[in-house]
Amino acid sequence: MKTDTILKYDRGVPRYTSYPTAHLFQDGLSEEDHIDWLEKLPADAPLSLYIHVPFCDSLCWFCGCHTKITQQHKPVSDYLKVLRQEIRLVGGHLDAHTDRRPVRHLHFGGGSPTILTGEEVTDLFEDLQRFFTFTEDAELALEIDPRDLPREHLQSWIRAGINRASLGVQDINPLVQRTINRIQTMEQTRDVVDTLRDGGVNAINMDLIYGLPHQTVESVTETVDAVLEMAPDRLALFGYAHMPKFKAHQRLIPEETLPDFFERFAQQDAAAKRLTDAGYIQIGLDHFAKPDDSLSLALKNGTLRRNFQGYTSDRAEHLIGLGASSISALPQAIIQNKVPINLYKSDISEGRLPMGKFIPLSAEDRLRGEVIEKLMCFQSADLKEICARHGVPANHFDQECQELHPMIADSIVSVKDGVVEMQPGGRALVRAVCAVFDAYHDTVKRSYSKAV
Ligand SMILES: C[S@@+](CC[C@H](N)C(=O)[O-])C[C@H]1O[C@@H](n2cnc3c(N)ncnc32)[C@H](O)[C@@H]1O
Ligand code: SF4
Repeated sequence: MKTDTILKYDRGVPRYTSYPTAHLFQDGLSEEDHIDWLEKLPADAPLSLYIHVPFCDSLCWFCGCHTKITQQHKPVSDYLKVLRQEIRLVGGHLDAHTDRRPVRHLHFGGGSPTILTGEEVTDLFEDLQRFFTFTEDAELALEIDPRDLPREHLQSWIRAGINRASLGVQDINPLVQRTINRIQTMEQTRDVVDTLRDGGVNAINMDLIYGLPHQTVESVTETVDAVLEMAPDRLALFGYAHMPKFKAHQRLIPEETLPDFFERFAQQDAAAKRLTDAGYIQIGLDHFAKPDDSLSLALKNGTLRRNFQGYTSDRAEHLIGLGASSISALPQAIIQNKVPINLYKSDISEGRLPMGKFIPLSAEDRLRGEVIEKLMCFQSADLKEICARHGVPANHFDQECQELHPMIADSIVSVKDGVVEMQPGGRALVRAVCAVFDAYHDTVKRSYSKAV
C-alpha cells in the first residue's frame, strides 16, 4: 500500500480496545446497580481479573499509562492495603452464590506492579485465593519493568504462580533512551528473562515502540534484532502515541526529534518485516507471536479477542478490574474505577465500590462491538453471520458498506457476500474501517493518536 493512500485515511481513530470507546465514559452509575450486576454474574462462568498498580519509581517521558512516580515505598504499601480491601469488597459481592469464583485469566498491569515487595505479593495472592480459584489452564500474567528489579521480588511473583510475563523494553539505543528518560541496559533485560526462565516462566512478551524521538529505521531494526536474541514468545510493537495535551510530561520530548509520518511508517514496516522473517506471526495491528504461542493458536482457531490490554487468547466473558483506573467489562456496562488514587482510596475506606465512570451497553453496541472486534482481530468480519446471531436483518449495515466505497476503490478493503475483508497491505488502516462501523465516531470530536 502506498504511503500517500494511508495518509489520506490516517485521521484520528481510536485503538478500539473496547466498543464503545473510552471517550464515551459518563457519570451517573449507581452503586446499587453495580452491586446487582456483580451479584448476577453466573457463578460457574470463569472470570478475568485485571489488577492495576499505578506506581513507578521514575517517569519515562513517553509514558501514556495511568501511573504516579514515587521514590518512597509508603504510598505503594498504603495503596496495596486499600487494593486488598477492594478485593474483599468485590469478592464479598460475588460470594453470594458460591465460595470461590473460577478465574481463567489474571493480569497485573500498571504502572509497574513489580514495584511491590515480595511480602506484598504473597499477601495479595492470599487475598485473591480467598475469593477466587484459578482454573488449571489459568493464565497469570505480569507486566515487568526490568530496570533494577531485585531478583527476590521477581521470585516471589514466580512462587505466587505467574506463568506469563511482559517486559517493557521500548528501544535499546542510548540516544533514544536518554531522550525518553529511560535508561535500560540489555543486561537488565536479559537478567529478568533468565530469572523467569529459571523459575519455569517460559511465556515471555516484550514491548517495543516505534516513532520515539531520534529513532530511525536502522535503530528500530537494531532493537528488534537485539531482542530476538532472547527469543521472546511474543512482541508488541506499539506506535508512540504523542498526546502532550493529555500527558503534560510528554512535552519534555522535543517535537523536532520525533519521526514524521513517513519515517514512522517505514519503521513499523521494517520492524514488522524483520519479525515475520524471523518466523513470528503478526496478530492484529501490533502484536507478533511465535506460531506455537497461544495468541497465534487463537488467531488460527478463531478465538482471538481484543480487550483493554490489547490482543488476548482469554475467552472469559466477564472482566473485573481492581485498583485505581482499572476497567471492568460486565454484560450490562463497561465500568472504570476512579482514576485519582486519593478518591479511589477514600471510597474503599468508606466501604463503597470505587466506580468512577461507565458506558451502558445496548444490544446495538454489542452488535457493532463484535463487528469491530472481529475486524481488529481477524482483518475480516462476516456481517451476515454476526447479524443473524444478534437477531437483526442482514441488511443492517448497508449504509456502512456504502460508506466503505472510497476505501474499496483504493484497494484497502473489500465487501463480498456480506464479508468485510481488509486487503493485503491494508492492515494499517483497519482502525479507519472500524470507525465506519462505530456509531459514535463522528459525533464526538477528540484527538486520537494517528493510525500509523
Ligand atoms: C505499563 S507499561 C509496561 C510495564 C512497565 N511499566 C514498563 O514500562 O516496563 C505498558 C507499555 O505501554 C507502552 N506505552 C506506554 N506509553 C506509551 C505511549 N505513549 N505510546 C505507545 N506505547 C506506550 C510501553 O511499550 C509500555 O511497555
Ligand atoms: S515504567 Fe512503564 S508505566 Fe512507568 S513511566 Fe515508564 S512506561 Fe510508564
